Amino acid sequence: MSYLENIKTAVIKENAVILAIESSCDETAASVIRGGREILSSVISTSMSEHVRFGGVVPEIASRAHTSYISKTVEKAVLEAGITLSDLDVIAVTYGSGLIGALLVGVSYAKALAYSLNIPLVPVSHIRGHVSAGYLSSKELKPPFICLLASGGHTAIIEVKDYYTYNVLGGTLDDAAGEAFDKVARVLGLEYPGGPNIERLAREGSNVIELPKMLKGKKGYDFSYSGLKTAVINYCHQKVQKGEDFNKADVACSFQCSAIDVLVEKTLNALKDKGFKVLSVGGGVAANGYLREKLEKECKKRGYTLVLPEKKLCTDNACMIGAEGYLQYLNGNFAGLDLNAQAFVKL
Ligand SMILES: Nc1ncnc2c1ncn2[C@@H]1O[C@H](COP(=O)(O)OP(=O)(O)OP(=O)(O)O)[C@@H](O)[C@H]1O
Ligand SMILES: [Mg+2]
Repeated sequence: MSYLENIKTAVIKENAVILAIESSCDETAASVIRGGREILSSVISTSMSEHVRFGGVVPEIASRAHTSYISKTVEKAVLEAGITLSDLDVIAVTYGSGLIGALLVGVSYAKALAYSLNIPLVPVSHIRGHVSAGYLSSKELKPPFICLLASGGHTAIIEVKDYYTYNVLGGTLDDAAGEAFDKVARVLGLEYPGGPNIERLAREGSNVIELPKMLKGKKGYDFSYSGLKTAVINYCHQKVQKGEDFNKADVACSFQCSAIDVLVEKTLNALKDKGFKVLSVGGGVAANGYLREKLEKECKKRGYTLVLPEKKLCTDNACMIGAEGYLQYLNGNFAGLDLNAQAFVKL
């Protein structure tokens, strides 16, 4: 009997202990999750400091870092959870979307471990993981609800119909929100990743620079960030060319307001139009303090329930992969040893 044929006969346990592995970008992360919603441990090793001087993640550097971090990261996650490998019921691993060489490290490691322990291997979509972060932060969160997903590569408003069925109401037509934060940060001379640095600088500035409002006020739930990004870049370059001083903190604050206000507006429209009262958020941009405060205020005003995962559950982590992996496990979505990494997977 092959590994997969044998594993398919495994009894599904409601309180399954899952080891989740995430290696899609620069974070090598491992986490142990029980019953889909309880975090027993979370360990994140990152090669970010090695990428800063290049202004973005260098795939080969990230892949090499994963190979040197992965064993120690997994060992630490198991130790911190207070268990041993033999207590594990499932291994969940991000198989896409992401950097292919980086993903392959996690996928190969997860395959070998699942095979050696003779337990199910569950393939997880990174983006679905961002949505499932909400289940870790609120034990009461159950579909249907609306999820605002805003990360380095994705920006979308999703109707989560049930645990497995998503209806994407709108998304970005060009750049993702996080990508725009990173590109604007670069022009302002701030280090990668730009989001947290823009947020920090914006606190010292005011929203006084007129910037395009993108698709604000327009019907539908789509976004467009490339015009806003170009407007900020042009503003800074023109000031430099004319030899005029400009206040970088004001640029950061004005950009942040333009980028975030439209996310909030369209998300609230979606909730109202579709008759939803529960909102969850996910993705690195959801760690933005201005976005979080604004959503808290607006949801409170309207009597909506807002699920705001802790900031460390919004940026890349393995806990969210464990939460989504649990759902896939319950559905019997097991992979064989032929599981491969994929640069792009559908939501
Ligand atoms: N406080 C913040 N404010 C705004 N943006 C932020 C903040 N913190 C992180 N980000 C942005 O979030 C992005 C990283 O998020 P995440 O790790 O989810 O993206 P990713 O994994 O690279 O992309 P994806 O999840 O779409 O594949 C970066 O673009 C970063 O600048
Ligand atoms: Mg991500």
